[in-house]
Amino acid sequence: MKEKFENIADIYGTPVYVYFEDILLKRAKKVKEVFEDLNFLPTVAVKANNNPALLKILEEMGFGADILGEGELLACTLAGISPDKIVWNGNGKTFEQKEYMIKNKVKYVNVDSFEEFNYLWKEENNIELFLRVNPDIDAKTHPYISTGLKKHKFGMSFTQAEDLLKKYSERISGFHLHIGSQITEVLPFKEALEKTYELAKKYNIRKINIGGGWGIKYKSENELDLNILRKELLPTLKNFDLIINEIGRFIFAPAGFLLTKVVMVKKTETKTFVVTESGMNHLIRPALYGAYHEIEVLDKSGPVEKVDVVGPLCESGDFLAKDIELNLPKIGDLIVVKNAGAYGFSMANNYNGTTQPAEVLVKKDGSLKLIRKKQKVEELFSSCII
Ligand code: LLP
Repeated sequence: MKEKFENIADIYGTPVYVYFEDILLKRAKKVKEVFEDLNFLPTVAVKANNNPALLKILEEMGFGADILGEGELLACTLAGISPDKIVWNGNGKTFEQKEYMIKNKVKYVNVDSFEEFNYLWKEENNIELFLRVNPDIDAKTHPYISTGLKKHKFGMSFTQAEDLLKKYSERISGFHLHIGSQITEVLPFKEALEKTYELAKKYNIRKINIGGGWGIKYKSENELDLNILRKELLPTLKNFDLIINEIGRFIFAPAGFLLTKVVMVKKTETKTFVVTESGMNHLIRPALYGAYHEIEVLDKSGPVEKVDVVGPLCESGDFLAKDIELNLPKIGDLIVVKNAGAYGFSMANNYNGTTQPAEVLVKKDGSLKLIRKKQKVEELFSSCII
């Protein structure tokens, strides 16, 4: 890997997100195989990574997509994902977006609320409606990415879903569940599904979207065990005619690395700081959720020291890791941040007038392909009017 990363830095410069096609294919295959014996439509959550070249790889494996709006739909169109495999999500859908999705023949929508149904979906159209129910189940994950408790902004109560079913049962095709992200235990998924099945049975709802949230190993946690997940969910899922899921992190995270350069190594009275080109502008997860990402210095000749790896931006929340043991690098050394393929580039921003990294794909045969150019400073203000 070391030579590969050095080679990429030589050719494309840094910072750069690097994705390995073989890892991506392996992860996607795992997801696809879980319920392969059922009528199963796996979809990829575009919010986790919207690079059309990567989406295209998944499209070729048969994946559909979960999108939030026009931007993510465009990424899917560029990737060649057919609209009849696309699911439209969101808790703030507008009338104009609805028209746009209908015009573009998007097949499925997850209706987030009772109010959304009444505002947008009472009349006939060709989109299949799934009601997003909130099962009030604790996914035991970070509070910002937990979505299935009553207090969260997502979904409708079972009572509200039932009210809609009583009046509009012929308009409603299925239920949708998404209780959170980075969930590593099977039980919350099982409980949420079984609770929802009770209502599905009563109204003869035969389609279900079980959402995403399949957790990975960043540090000491265990990855969600897909064999156990299958075993626990299968008896209930067998009662449905169509099963959809929406997976982001599990597919993308381990396939992606942020490769960036050390710009300064500084010692204060209490700490050693390794300053890199990238901070919360290129990978916001540590700053936003206190998330852990393993970091490696490519040149391991320096002594191991406890350091903070920080970005160059103007606030103390701008860090990639705190108090980690690292071979002390020198200015100009390369470091890689691991498990950065999901919610890495897709959440990158231009804070402090910085530009976004390039993205490079390492293909199965080892060859390299630039799949997004590094943003140029001149592009930053192209939409401003002075
Ligand atoms: N379906 C819905 C409706 C979602 O809201 C999400 C993620 C997914 C599927 C995909 O979840 P996944 O399989 O990736 O866990 N930015 C956060 C994660 C936010 C997740 C948002 N929704 C992070 O970096 O951890």
